[in-house]
Amino acid sequence: MINKCLFPAAGYGTRFLPATKATPKEMLPILTKPLIQYGVEEALEAGITTMAIVSGRGKRAIEDHFDISYELEHQIKGGSKEELLTEIRSLIEKCTFSYTRQIEMKGLGHAILTGETLIGNEPFAVVLADDLCHSDGVGVLQQMKEVYEKYQCSVVAIEEVPINETQKYGVIAGKLVDGTDDTYRVSDMVEKPDPKDAPSNLAIIGRYILTPDIFDILRNTKAGKGGELQITDALLEQAKQGRVIAYKFKGKRFDCGSVDGFVEATNWFYDRIKS
Ligand code: G1P
Repeated sequence: MINKCLFPAAGYGTRFLPATKATPKEMLPILTKPLIQYGVEEALEAGITTMAIVSGRGKRAIEDHFDISYELEHQIKGGSKEELLTEIRSLIEKCTFSYTRQIEMKGLGHAILTGETLIGNEPFAVVLADDLCHSDGVGVLQQMKEVYEKYQCSVVAIEEVPINETQKYGVIAGKLVDGTDDTYRVSDMVEKPDPKDAPSNLAIIGRYILTPDIFDILRNTKAGKGGELQITDALLEQAKQGRVIAYKFKGKRFDCGSVDGFVEATNWFYDRIKS
């Protein structure tokens, strides 16, 4: 069972300065909903109710968002605006939120290791809120949970990217599992390789299911690309033992960590509500 979802949310969001100077990048909205709320909804849809958020300095707005605002709610009670808070109220009722702070930004692997105190010794999901996923059918995390239940090992979500973009992602090599066309047993993975060194064009996107031995592996992993502790390097240790599955998810992903992706997501979601 996957009961907990970790949200690394301590990063500075420098690509969105000055918007992210005093506002967490996870709170930037696509239409009226902040990015992290989409991630929490996706986790809840997968039956996960414990949200573990690795936060940092200047990120208090995230805690306030997943809390009741008595003054505001009193103010709009009984009026036409009240329904605008229905969704977030329901999330707050159904989920619990716990927080820990990452003191130094030393990479995604370090952020995940910081979350150990909230996760403990059980398999867990990871959502990077700036990768916004949408699926008209089953949500991406729910799809991955089903893959985890079958293979009982770590699962990363992948998609094909143009080969000249591999330096933006963790990239995998692997073989399709017999009888599937979307599930790979991973044999190698490289963090942000140059296209000429990339083992494939199958890029990891910001959705993971990790087995808890990843914490010990992370503790013993040296800084990698960019001098940071990389989750990709720790996963490679599991992959060498055949314990990582890469799953080509069904749905769309928007890279809302980039201005282009953010605008694309905004237009796409807007078109949907208008049509
Ligand atoms: C992180 C990971 C990378 C992964 C990406 C997905 O990179 O390190 O392996 O492909 O997320 O969004 P970041 O985008 O944080 O630089």
